[in-house]
Order: sequence, then structure tokens, then C-alpha cells
Amino acid sequence: MSEEWFDVMVKQYNHCVALAKSNNKVVGMATLMSGEAEGVGQLNIFVLPEHARQNIGLNLYRMLIQRTQNNYNELVAHTKRSVSSGLAFAKRLGFEKEKQVYQLKINLNVYKKRKKCCFLERVTKDNLNRYNKIIEENFNYTLDEYGLNQMLKDSDVAIYLAYLGENAKTPVATFTQQVRNGNSAYVYDVAVCKKMQHKGYGTVVMNTCFLNLLKAKVSTVELLVDKINVAALNFYKNLGFKQEDVLVQWRGRAN
Ligand SMILES: CC(C)(COP(=O)(O)OP(=O)(O)OC[C@H]1O[C@@H](n2cnc3c(N)ncnc32)[C@H](O)[C@@H]1OP(=O)(O)O)[C@@H](O)C(=O)NCCC(=O)NCCS
Repeated sequence: MSEEWFDVMVKQYNHCVALAKSNNKVVGMATLMSGEAEGVGQLNIFVLPEHARQNIGLNLYRMLIQRTQNNYNELVAHTKRSVSSGLAFAKRLGFEKEKQVYQLKINLNVYKKRKKCCFLERVTKDNLNRYNKIIEENFNYTLDEYGLNQMLKDSDVAIYLAYLGENAKTPVATFTQQVRNGNSAYVYDVAVCKKMQHKGYGTVVMNTCFLNLLKAKVSTVELLVDKINVAALNFYKNLGFKQEDVLVQWRGRAN
């Protein structure tokens, strides 16, 4: 996350960050920010292992809820499936397990480059309807102009439409990328038009994305995939992604 975006988040959008300190040292951190839809917040809490079981996590959570008051009805959180303290903490907050997601990673320095590329165009308010057509048929939601502006306030985020020809009017796919710390990227909302799926276009689009990231000195790409999305899992494995971790997605009420 860029410092610039961190400032915007904290100052303008009620996105809340809380720190826990002990002897002048930060021992815990929690963030609560807008999630996938209005009224849904994304919660993250970390406490150093040597300060576990001292109610620091619980206090950070209470502080965030108090500060953000009625902004969120629902909260979403992710914990590593292998970390029992995280699982127990989410249960303690009264959250319900929603699903499991795989965290995948690819090292672009060993990525098997393909020749075929496509043409990328940034999503702006002028082509937002083209973007929404692909997103709606694949993920059942749309992005309004306000949401787009919010996302693009982060200068590290870019949303792309992919075209097969330079003058083509209909995009074949979309994806969003966020470059983190200059050398790694997080890719999400990858989607190919329904009637164009499983014809090799997704591979061409990701190839273009990776070659551009390599030019920008980005060396790893990470993403999350729903455990039951077999087509996407095959697709990413086929590109060379490896499984890093399994996460549990939790959902609960903000109280
Ligand atoms: C996942 C997705 C982006 C893949 O793009 P695509 O253009 O359909 O994929 P490709 O044609 O390039 O497929 C490459 C490989 O992926 C796998 N794959 C793609 N579609 C698949 C399907 N329906 N079932 C099983 N495997 C599939 C195969 O291994 C395939 O190689 P093969 O053709 O030699 O079997 C696309 O299917 C999609 O938009 N799905 C809906 C949105 C989504 O779930 N996005 C991922 C969110 S994390």
C-alpha cells in the first residue's frame, strides 16, 4: 500500500487503523475498511505471538467497532487454516465460516512466457459499462462511478479491459492488479466473457499482464481462488501458480 493511499484511506474514508503498543513498541495492529459491497467491512487483526492471549486482539476489535460506529452491518475476515489462534479468535467474535480459499503465488522470473498478447485499456468512467457487463455475468455485481473512483484513488491499483485486436470494440476479459512494495502484485477479479471462456483467451490476458509486470520489475503475483472454483484453479495451475496457503473466509456482524 502506498503512503499516499494510506493517508487517503485514514483521513477521508473512515477506514480505521488501530495500533496496540507495549513499552513504546507496536505489538498489534488492526484495520477495518470497505469490503466487497456497501455496509460490508474487511477486518484484519494481527498481534505478535509473544503478546497473544492478553485480550489485545479483542480490544483492538472493540476499538475499531466503536470508531466506525454504524458504517458496517457485516464484516468479512480471512484467517490461515493452519493457524489455530486465528480460527479460535474469529469464532470468539461470533463469526461464521463462509468458505475456504486458496492463496496462490507465481514467481514471474520462472514463468513460461507465451507469445500471444492482447491489448489492454484502463477502465475509466467512459468504458465502465463494458467492464460491468463482464463483471456482472461472472460475479453478479457491478461497480458504480463512485466505487471506481474510490478504487483508483490508490495509484497502485489498475483495472484493465482486454481486447483481442487493437481496434476491437468489445473486450474479451478484465482483471485488476495492485502492485505492492514495487516488486509484488496482487491480481483479482479476473474474468473472461462467458461465451469466450475455455478458448485460451484467459491465458493470453494473464500472459500480457505478467509480461507488463515483468517490465515494471514486479517478480511475484499472488491471488485468492475459491476452493470450489475448479475451472479457475486449473487455469492458474496451468499458468504455473503454486499453492501458498489455505485461508478460511469468515463473516460476522459488527457488534
Ligand atoms: C477462470 C477464467 C478466467 C479462465 O479463463 P479462460 O479463458 O476460460 O481459460 P483458458 O481457456 O485460457 O484455459 C486455460 C486452462 O485453464 C483450465 N480451464 C479453463 N476453463 C476450465 C473449465 N471450465 N474447466 C476446467 N478447466 C478449465 C484448463 O486447464 C485450461 O487448459 P486446457 O484448455 O488445456 O484444458 C475464466 O474461466 C473465467 O472468467 N471464469 C469465471 C470468473 C472466475 O471464476 N474468475 C477467477 C476468479 S479467481
